[in-house]
Amino acid sequence: MANAVEFIHQFVPPVSDASSSRTLLLLHGTGGNENDLLPLGRALDPGAALLSPRGQVLENDMPRFFRRLAEGVFDEKDIVRRADELADFIEAAGSRYNFRPADVVAVGYSNGANIAGAMMLLGRAKFRCAILFRAMVPFVPKDLPSLGGHRILVSEGEYDPIVPRANAEQLASLLRKSDAEVTLRFERAGHELTSSDLNAAKQWLVDR
Ligand code: MLT
Repeated sequence: MANAVEFIHQFVPPVSDASSSRTLLLLHGTGGNENDLLPLGRALDPGAALLSPRGQVLENDMPRFFRRLAEGVFDEKDIVRRADELADFIEAAGSRYNFRPADVVAVGYSNGANIAGAMMLLGRAKFRCAILFRAMVPFVPKDLPSLGGHRILVSEGEYDPIVPRANAEQLASLLRKSDAEVTLRFERAGHELTSSDLNAAKQWLVDR
């Protein structure tokens, strides 16, 4: 990946007691940055390495991981390009920081969850495990990828004004039809994350 696009990012090495072999790939929501999800990552897995890139698209100065034309209306061409760039960056970061892409767990919130979902639906994700908070269908692929062996937690808000329940269910169904093992859960919440999202994700990681 000599020519991989560089992302502004944070990398926090694993805790030296080797209590975890995971690297959590932290993908922020619109208007966030590489620092936002570090506390969430640490709470999810106290021993893991953390890799947290900043999205490269700016919408009114707010970083995102791909362009959108309106709320919930995504630029599919841009999604493909940005998903490719992010996948290459993760691979290059693995060589630089010495982690295996297969040990990566993607943890995304909102737009960050959507780029993680896009990477999987494009068959560009080397990670096999993902936690998608408040995710929606990024696009509907013509051909479904083969996601056998992938484990995905989709954690949604029952009262989310941005992600309709039917959209969340369609995402889970697309991933299941691609042979991923998907847990879809709904929190009594809106688009914001709650402590019970965190607890459920922690438990799901332990059960892995
Ligand atoms: C957001 O505000 O980030 C959206 O709801 C999700 C997206 O645009 O990807």
